[in-house]
Amino acid sequence: MPGVIVLGMQWGDEGKGKVIDLLSEKADYIVRAHGGNNAGHTIVVGSEEYRFHLVPSGILYPHVSCGIAGGTVIDPQVLLGEIEGLENRGVRVRGRLHLSPYAHVIFPYHRLLDQLYEEQKGKLAIGTTGRGIGPCYTDRSARLGIRICELVDPIYLEKRLRSVLAVKNLEIEKIFGKKPLSFDEVFASYKEYGRLLHSFVFDVEGETARFLSQGKKVLFEGAHGTLLDIGFGTYPFVTSSSTVASGVAMGAGIGPSQINHTIGVVKAYTTRVGAGPFPTVLAEDEKRLFMDAVSAREIGTTTGRVRSMGWFDSCLVRYAARLNGANSLALTKIDVLDGLKEIKICVGYRLRGQVLHVPPPIAEEFEQVEPIYETVPGWQEPTRDLLQGKLLPPKLKSYIDQIERLVGVPISLLSFGPKRDQTLYFQNIF
Ligand code: GDP
Ligand code: IMO
Ligand code: MG
Repeated sequence: MPGVIVLGMQWGDEGKGKVIDLLSEKADYIVRAHGGNNAGHTIVVGSEEYRFHLVPSGILYPHVSCGIAGGTVIDPQVLLGEIEGLENRGVRVRGRLHLSPYAHVIFPYHRLLDQLYEEQKGKLAIGTTGRGIGPCYTDRSARLGIRICELVDPIYLEKRLRSVLAVKNLEIEKIFGKKPLSFDEVFASYKEYGRLLHSFVFDVEGETARFLSQGKKVLFEGAHGTLLDIGFGTYPFVTSSSTVASGVAMGAGIGPSQINHTIGVVKAYTTRVGAGPFPTVLAEDEKRLFMDAVSAREIGTTTGRVRSMGWFDSCLVRYAARLNGANSLALTKIDVLDGLKEIKICVGYRLRGQVLHVPPPIAEEFEQVEPIYETVPGWQEPTRDLLQGKLLPPKLKSYIDQIERLVGVPISLLSFGPKRDQTLYFQNIF
């Protein structure tokens, strides 16, 4: 199977980083296709922990090369910092990391406008990561964007920035009454970023196509989660890129026919960070029974915010599996449920006397639904040290069988902890 996508099927932070890291061992090329440094993927290798925002996490394997494709939005300062951080820890990045000329660049006015829109929205704020992602994608669609190919060429950068900044400053000054940004300052710093990133620029899309046509293994690293998709997520409480499998293909500049397998990563429960509906969120008395956020590793990798936790929502995951055409599930963070006597699974919603099995498209209505739960017994034994080939505790086996049945997609992998060896494989994906 040469083309494999790994993506999240909830509201992000499903453990994609860990799954990508596991599959990277057998991959030849790893491509990040959309989003920016709003993503945060944590990987644990032995006693070392790595946090990735833009660089594909596969970079930890010396034999693979990585591409950041044209569907992404790049904050050059963050990317340079991430490259430097990895090289300082002995991970060679230069020569192995390719940056598409088509990717768009995040500028200081994007970060500023992200913050101003959020402030203006008040109670309806989305709770964005504040990284300028939405405003950068807005400019891309409005044909006001500046891409990596322009960033690394001072002549084009100057021309483009002069005309774009004039428009952005109008918005900053006239609508928000804030001080306009200085062209000279922005140009000087971004010209320098362009100089530093120049040697990374590469035909990522062409390289991806070459690898695929040679039957080599290409892993596409999804970011965020399906319920954060700009089109089909819990709009408007979503991110600004298309996070579904077809969005990954689009961002990577390949055709959907080149994808052989899509793995949907899901937690054995649900989390969310930022605002928006979350029907299965734990009630106050349930929070005490659940593992705390620090032990469960539910502190955001990007913003350090505590993620809200809730029960597994089979309606959301089934909806996500349909949107992605998911071929298999990677079920993660099972160990977090180890101590529970009873576990709830959401199997439907009640809204004004009606029973629904898919999320309603209006967020306000989704906020009003009452989840319908099935309660199953917990396995109440530690799973972190479960060994390959060992039988699963019967109650855990029936929990995962039920998830498979409700979602309608087979499980290819189970994860019981952040480490590489805390994993059970049911299917060889590559
Ligand atoms: P991503 O954004 O989907 O890559 O997920 P994050 O890395 O942001 O968040 C997942 C967190 O859970 C990270 O701290 C991982 O190290 C951790 N993690 C991944 N898989 C497991 C697991 O099976 N069990 C536990 N306890 N932690 C896990
Ligand atoms: P990974 O790849 C969790 C959420 C933000 C916010 C909304 C919009 O680590 O799974 P944005 O800054 O993108 O405009 O914010 O989307 N969000 C994520 N939540 N994990 C992510 O990425 C996220 N990327 C964006 O919290 O609610
Ligand atoms: Mg994350």
